[in-house]
Amino acid sequence: MTSVAVLISGRGTNMETIVKNCKLGKLPANVAFVGSSKKDAEGLVKAKNLGIPTIVLPYDEGKDTAEEKLLEELKKNQVEWVVLAGFMKILSPKVVRSYMNRIVNIHPSLLPSFPGVNAIKQAFEYGVKVTGVTVHLVDEKVDHGPILAQMPVRISPYDTIETLEKKVHRIEHYLYSEVLKELFTRELNKTRRGI
Ligand code: GAR
Repeated sequence: MTSVAVLISGRGTNMETIVKNCKLGKLPANVAFVGSSKKDAEGLVKAKNLGIPTIVLPYDEGKDTAEEKLLEELKKNQVEWVVLAGFMKILSPKVVRSYMNRIVNIHPSLLPSFPGVNAIKQAFEYGVKVTGVTVHLVDEKVDHGPILAQMPVRISPYDTIETLEKKVHRIEHYLYSEVLKELFTRELNKTRRGI
């Protein structure tokens, strides 16, 4: 079974869906731990309730200390994939290179449009008629790297920021697991074939 770590900073609804899908056998992976950049992240409670070990990354002691802790835990748990699910910190080149092409991120817009924070609000306020969700591998830039999948979300004249957020999150919860299933299944097949 592929060992993964999920990193969060907030509500953790994407993490919750991923963990549940692992538990249901819909995703061939085991979530070794959930790491949070914030000690009071709502998602930490969700992870604990699901019986997943949690770690707070000590960003208040500086980025180097936090990333040292992260790399140590990834190694200790023999983590193969790092799944960013609303993780609002930029990983340094050292971490990205240690897990090259093994860090996945989800972003609530059709990248390269609207990277960074508040992407749903940015798209809504810009007035685009179509926005969406992107899942991509992480490189050294923000919300950047090879795109694995995208799904569009139409913005109707009746949408408010709240209704749009709901539509985008619903797509996120579906799309992330679909993409991860493909990545982890490929991994499992490689292991079986002894590659
Ligand atoms: C999600 O919409 C995710 O795409 C976004 O944070 C939200 C986290 O929600 N990530 C980014 O904006 C990355 N730049 P969640 O904590 O409920 O999963």
